[in-house]
Amino acid sequence: MGLQKNKGVWNMYNDLKGQVAIVTGASSGLGKAIAKRFGAEKMKVVVNYLDQEKEAKDVVNEIHRLGGEAVAEQGDVSKEEDLDRLITSAHENFGSLDVMMNNAGIQTETYSHEMSLEEWNKVISVNLTGTFLGSTKAIAYMLDHQIKGSIINMSSVHEVVPWPYFVHYATSKGGMKLLTQTLALEYGGKGIRVNNIGPGAINTPINKEKFSNPEEREGVLSMIPMKEIGEPEQVASIAAFLASEQASYVTGCTLFVDGGMKLYPSFQAGRG
Ligand code: NAI
Repeated sequence: MGLQKNKGVWNMYNDLKGQVAIVTGASSGLGKAIAKRFGAEKMKVVVNYLDQEKEAKDVVNEIHRLGGEAVAEQGDVSKEEDLDRLITSAHENFGSLDVMMNNAGIQTETYSHEMSLEEWNKVISVNLTGTFLGSTKAIAYMLDHQIKGSIINMSSVHEVVPWPYFVHYATSKGGMKLLTQTLALEYGGKGIRVNNIGPGAINTPINKEKFSNPEEREGVLSMIPMKEIGEPEQVASIAAFLASEQASYVTGCTLFVDGGMKLYPSFQAGRG
């Protein structure tokens, strides 16, 4: 069976039907596209949001339209009790938790030598600690309920590519590499898979300002061998694959979705 569209959204993996997922930061950008894709796969989705309640409810309605089930749930991923509440919501509303999609993330731009401890801590606590909390609490639930689930963490090309002025962000994503690999090693024997997605430059609100400036957009395109900015749906496809049985032997990996961005693009013309 090839790639099909269900009411305008790709869907492909029959085994995902009825499975229960939490998607953090699902009110916009990549999280929204993934939640919708899971809806098109007829999954049951806890749509987490921080402060965009209306947008999260729109995502819930969209999932219902696509044939899935969904509830919106407020929560800050850097807070332990909020992650507990998301998992309780999955259990009470849908009776399981098969897929934990730790997507929420933030970034700010500052010279490293001027970065305050507060700014550093904020990004680390959402991106890295939030992923630690989401992963380990989901694993605890899966172990308790003997579920061979899938944990998917939203990393970045900056898991391996250094990024001046974003030292907190690059450090958080670099940390996610070993977080994911360590958890994959620790829980592989229980049938729980843990993987990262590593997007490059994708057309979402986090990049809105940068991509609307023609000069900056050109600068970004020059770093992408495929010469295209990615779309959220192209990242959502990878989330669906990693959640599905088709990835049943894949763990501890980062699947990069970046048009080749981390392939040292300055070598593209054969220089070097
Ligand atoms: P976005 O800004 O549209 O989405 C981020 C989401 O996270 C928002 O819905 C926001 O409300 C939510 N969020 C922020 N702090 C939160 C918290 N404490 N608790 C719960 N939710 C919170 O941006 P985008 O692009 O969709 O980003 C999603 C993820 O993808 C992030 O982890 C980001 O680092 C990653 N990423 C994005 C890339 C891109 O080019 N768009 C490239 C590489 C990685």
